[in-house]
Parts: sequence; C-alpha cells; structure tokens
Amino acid sequence: MMKKTAIAPANIALIKYWGKRDASLNLPLNSSFSMNLSELSTTTTIQFRQLKKDEISLDGHDATTEDRERVVRHLDRIRKIAGTSFRARVVSRNTFPTGVGIASSASGFAALTLAATRALGLRLSEKQLSLLARRGSGSACRSVPDGFVEWVVGKRDEDSYAFSLHPPDFWDIHDVVVLVSRRMKKVTSTEGHSLAPTSPFFQVRLRDIPRRLSLLKKALKEKDFSTFGRVVEEEALNMHAVMMTSSPPLLYWEPVTLKVMLLVFQMRDEGLQAYVTLDAGPTVHVICQANDAERLARKLRTVEGVIAVIDNKPGKGARVVEEHLF
Ligand code: PMV
Repeated sequence: MMKKTAIAPANIALIKYWGKRDASLNLPLNSSFSMNLSELSTTTTIQFRQLKKDEISLDGHDATTEDRERVVRHLDRIRKIAGTSFRARVVSRNTFPTGVGIASSASGFAALTLAATRALGLRLSEKQLSLLARRGSGSACRSVPDGFVEWVVGKRDEDSYAFSLHPPDFWDIHDVVVLVSRRMKKVTSTEGHSLAPTSPFFQVRLRDIPRRLSLLKKALKEKDFSTFGRVVEEEALNMHAVMMTSSPPLLYWEPVTLKVMLLVFQMRDEGLQAYVTLDAGPTVHVICQANDAERLARKLRTVEGVIAVIDNKPGKGARVVEEHLF
C-alpha cells in the first residue's frame, strides 16, 4: 500500500473557538478566524498495511493511551470512508517540542487527515479535508487551507468547515510566539470547551462575536494594523475572561505570561505596534508588523523565564510532501 507524508501548520486563533454546540462532532458555537504559522508544524507519514493494530509514534515515542485512542478513532473515520480494514503505521513529528505550551492537535490532525486519506487513494477536496480534520480536533479544520482562514459556524455537520480568505503573502504580519512554560496544561481544551457556558459572560461574548469578526476581516482587508491588533487583543482577553469566570475557573496564565504581556503593553506605549493573543495555555503570541518582529523577538528573549521565542510569518495550509519519516 502507498506511503504518504503530509505537513500541516499550527494556527493562531485571532477570533477564538471556545464552546461547542455538539461535542461529538466538534461543532462550534461561533465562527472563528486564524492565521497559519510558518515555523510551527507537524509532519506525518502513514502507511496502511496488514498489521494487528495501528502503530503510532509521536515525536519519537509510542503514543500515550489517550493520544492513541484519539488518533485511532480518527483513522477509523477515514477507514470507513475508504472501505478498508487495514491498520496503519503512523510516524509524526512536530517542529516544536511537545509539552511546552504549543498545542499540536490542530497541526497534528490536519496532517494526519491529509496523509491518511491520500495513502488510501482518496482525493478529497479542501472542504472535505477541512470537515474531516474538524472531527479530529475542531481547530484542525483551520490548518487545512492557506494563510488567513475563516471557520464558519454553519448550520449542520456538512457546512461547518474552514476556507482561506487571503493567501499567506497577502499581508506580512508576524506572530512572535513566546514560550514560557514546560508544564503540560492541567485542563485540556476539550474539557475547557464544555466549561465555557458556565461563565456568566459567555452569552455576552457569543452575541458580540459576529461584530468583532467582521471588524477583524475589514481591518485585514484594508491592512489597518492598529485596528486589527486592537481587535485581536480584545478578543483574546475576552475569551480568557470567560475561562477565568467559568466554574470551576480556568486560569491558563503563568507569572511569566503576565510579565511578557506587560512588557508588550509597555513597548506599545513607547511606540512599537504590537498586540498579544493567547490560546488555551500560557504561551503568548505577539502579533506585529514584519519590520518590528526581529527587534521584538530580541527584547522578549531577555525576559527571565522565557524558554524560547519563535518568529512566524503567515503560513501555507496542509500539503503532501515527498520526504517520508520512515
Ligand atoms: O481545537 P481545540 O478543541 O483544541 O480548541 C482550540 C481552542 C483555542 O485554541 C483556545 C481557540 C482556537 O480557536 O483555536
């Protein structure tokens, strides 16, 4: 059987997906918007064969029981579409170490979906791939298309998918990713989504998302960086306010997270245009214009407690590559 390899980027949510209307299908309660990251990605090689069970290696180790179950469930969905019972050998590698506060589920499930469907000879459209990747992890649907991506909330399973609004070279803005912790997060995003509606602020947040999303898209189209940045930062703090006020409360920040955020605010007061956003973890994403990225990264590396700083441009979506991992 064919061996196929795919690469898919991580993405940073600029308008966040937080809260599901259907947990088994990963259907969201709101539309979201993201940018793919050029330097953070997962590469996955897969080959279906006559094996007793799926063999899954993630970053050089056998997958944990939990990761394994999630991957096997996704492979089962793909096997069903292709009408095969072959098991698979899966080898997957991230360009970033696991457990340092960068989620690998988006890039991981996008790469797995593309590699597995191609290895079985399926030729799915980008929309079909996005729909399928969503079943593995919601945000993975946004790692399939290129560049700046919208995931529409949709009415049904078949119309909740992501598409590219602009290619990566549309606007040279950067996401300077600041890693501040090696600790694995205590509450996964899967658990977090289910807590979202317990926050008294959640309904207010949901009502305001369409306004914020259209403001963001307009600022992007007009390349109005200060409006864009303001919306991105406001959105991140809004989601974290919902997290902190859910019950039980979720506080993803570490002391260094706050230190980095305050430094960015201070640099902005001094004239450098940079804005922060954070997903479900302590990692700070600093959004800035290309010209400022290097200076910003250099400064952020001097903060005590910062583990690594990775400068990203807007990136391509999931694609097949020729070099295999085994
Ligand atoms: O795809 P999940 O279930 O890991 O959820 C991702 C949630 C956030 O990263 C916090 C927001 C987002 O839209 O990516």
